[in-house]
Amino acid sequence: MNGPSTLDTYGSQTSFSSAGTGADATLVLTTAMSVAAAVIFLLVMGAVWLAWRRDRPGSVWWIWGGGVILPVIALGTLVVASTFTLAAIGRVDDGAPVIEVTGHQYWWDIVHDPEGRALRDANEIVLPLNIPVTLSLKTEDVIHSFWVPSIAGKMDMVPGRINRMTVTATEAGRFRGQCAEFCGLSHPLMAFEVVVLPQAEYDAYLEDLRSEARDADTAQLARGRDVFLNEGCIACHAIRGVAEGARLGPDLSRIGARATLGAGMWRMNVGNLAGWIADVQDMKPGAQMPSYNHLSGPDLRAVAHYLASLK
Ligand code: CUA
Repeated sequence: MNGPSTLDTYGSQTSFSSAGTGADATLVLTTAMSVAAAVIFLLVMGAVWLAWRRDRPGSVWWIWGGGVILPVIALGTLVVASTFTLAAIGRVDDGAPVIEVTGHQYWWDIVHDPEGRALRDANEIVLPLNIPVTLSLKTEDVIHSFWVPSIAGKMDMVPGRINRMTVTATEAGRFRGQCAEFCGLSHPLMAFEVVVLPQAEYDAYLEDLRSEARDADTAQLARGRDVFLNEGCIACHAIRGVAEGARLGPDLSRIGARATLGAGMWRMNVGNLAGWIADVQDMKPGAQMPSYNHLSGPDLRAVAHYLASLK
């Protein structure tokens, strides 16, 4: 099997270029703090140099100026600036459409229009370009933290609570997110992708979520679908029009359309899918899914091809 894909196949994961409103606010604060820290560092180095030359002005000025007044101004400004930034990140627009994101060990359940048609997907959050969307963040087990550095601020997903923030993605493209709170053995393997699409393509995506999954239209794909139905996969996974209702694992109705497998970790292809099904506990230690290493070679290939065809 392939290892984790190289960086260029992922969306970017950086706080230093912003493609969303929450990331904008964070970037301004980060830049201001970095510049201020650099200036203060240079001032301190200057003071060290003066002390080295034993050429210092009165020590009372140094104690009041450098020890009291300067820190009060610097830290006071920082408190005010970060309070405003936090408010910008956590802003909620009640009129915006809602996307519900639920953290699980170690994947993400995504529901568009949760109060209405409840259109379900997993591990890939599709957002409309330049339209405010409220993310409703929950968890079904332990504390996770939702973080897409290029789009939005970081927000925890806490058991028994719903945390919300409204974000506007301002650039089309693919951006990487990552769980930012230690949540168990495979916490570092709990990533996801955000795909920002222009309105027409976003509408087509939602239409896709309303439709049944693609037909198994060859003998091998039909065999793969039967393996999925008969080997117990349907206890945890749903595929629209094939087996619906199960919520313990990611919805697989369009798994083949996702760029990555295993919540942002591996490239989506038949080989990695087969490796995942046969040996998931090696690829993601502690995942709730057991390794299906009892499947015959032809059954494993068939089910991997079937899942890859769902797009
Ligand atoms: Cu979920 Cu760390």
